[in-house]
Amino acid sequence: MLIQARGLCKRFERGHVCVDALQDIDLDIEERAFTTVTGASGSGKTTLLLTLAGLLRPTAGSIQFRGAELAGLSDARWAAFRHEHLGFVMQNFSLVPYLTAHENVALPLAIGRGGRAEQHQRATALLERVGLANRADHLPRELSAGQQQRVAIARALANEPALVLADEPTGNLDPGLATDVLDLLRALNEEHGMAILMVTHSPEAARAGTARIHIDAGRVVEHARA
Ligand SMILES: Nc1ncnc2c1ncn2[C@@H]1O[C@H](COP(=O)(O)OP(=O)(O)OP(=O)(O)O)[C@@H](O)[C@H]1O
Ligand SMILES: [Mg+2]
Repeated sequence: MLIQARGLCKRFERGHVCVDALQDIDLDIEERAFTTVTGASGSGKTTLLLTLAGLLRPTAGSIQFRGAELAGLSDARWAAFRHEHLGFVMQNFSLVPYLTAHENVALPLAIGRGGRAEQHQRATALLERVGLANRADHLPRELSAGQQQRVAIARALANEPALVLADEPTGNLDPGLATDVLDLLRALNEEHGMAILMVTHSPEAARAGTARIHIDAGRVVEHARA
């Protein structure tokens, strides 16, 4: 098992207001699985992703990665874990605006292993894979929304993550581009074997997965494997 979460709870407290965003969540993500997460707005989807990535601390519960407990790690160990094992694709692409497509993809590589030439080559290969070899020197604002999301996907893959967390990656794209990005994620999942956990509002996109989770008011109400 890649990720096994048990009894995961997240409570936000702000003054007198208290929101139980995750309530006793059990979740299994198998190696290479493409899991989709659906649920109404405010049901806790983003909170779940951020908690699994250690960007939010759970109020209770355990998160294991390949059998090792993560929940009690220090911030530094969580950061190292994210760098080594996770990739992120967000709805708004979150590219660095003043870096070119190539530089954005190379960014996570610069912190890691390999020499400059090797990093440069790898970023080029990743851009090629997402069909943007000829846009390497363009800034994000010179690219279309779909192209920007492709750059973000290439960047998420830079360090060969075991798991890519995607929060509505097609949410800001029109239907044709959304299908392209979805097909790309599915192809990469099959080629590279990294698991994907993807939040989506689209029932069609949800069917793209090999496993499905539906959450309602912070609880998993459906956990189906294809
Ligand atoms: N930092 C925070 N402080 C207080 N409450 C929060 C915080 N983040 C999220 N919440 C609350 O937790 C609940 C779940 O929010 P979350 O963002 O996970 O929902 P979501 O399913 O991703 O919704 P959407 O589909 O609109 O993105 C909501 O009630 C939200 O208001
Ligand atoms: Mg959200």
